[in-house]
Amino acid sequence: MTVHLSRKYGFFAAHRLHAPGLSDEANRALYGKCNNPNGHGHNYEVEVTVAGKVDPVTGRSIDLNLLDALCEQQILAPFRYRNLNKEVAEFLTGNPTTENLATVVDDRLRAVWNEWFSAAGPKLEKIRIWETERNICQVEGQGRTQHES
Ligand code: NI
Repeated sequence: MTVHLSRKYGFFAAHRLHAPGLSDEANRALYGKCNNPNGHGHNYEVEVTVAGKVDPVTGRSIDLNLLDALCEQQILAPFRYRNLNKEVAEFLTGNPTTENLATVVDDRLRAVWNEWFSAAGPKLEKIRIWETERNICQVEGQGRTQHES
């Protein structure tokens, strides 16, 4: 039987949302305080959901130490206390909306997932990111990388 396990992580980071194709006025209207020219911060929460079989010996569907180490390497260490627009490669020319951030997290985990877990092991199922209590984005299934390849 397949079970679904979710684990939450948190990091603080700064961003500025700005769409180059829109006027300054339209950007201010669209993004509000997230368009502040000097950026501003969020306490992001990331929930990673995996699907797997329960190991009869351990009673677990995934090695949580491995998942923690993977998330630390791919997401938390590169993002924590950073200015996403200036220090995260995907956002040097990209717009770090909650949607794009969820997609980048999904891509970064999928890119190396098979190096961390066996083919018969747990699968990455879903990413959810809370930018605020009211702004939450979810990415499910195959990531952007898989769709485009
Ligand atoms: Ni913001």
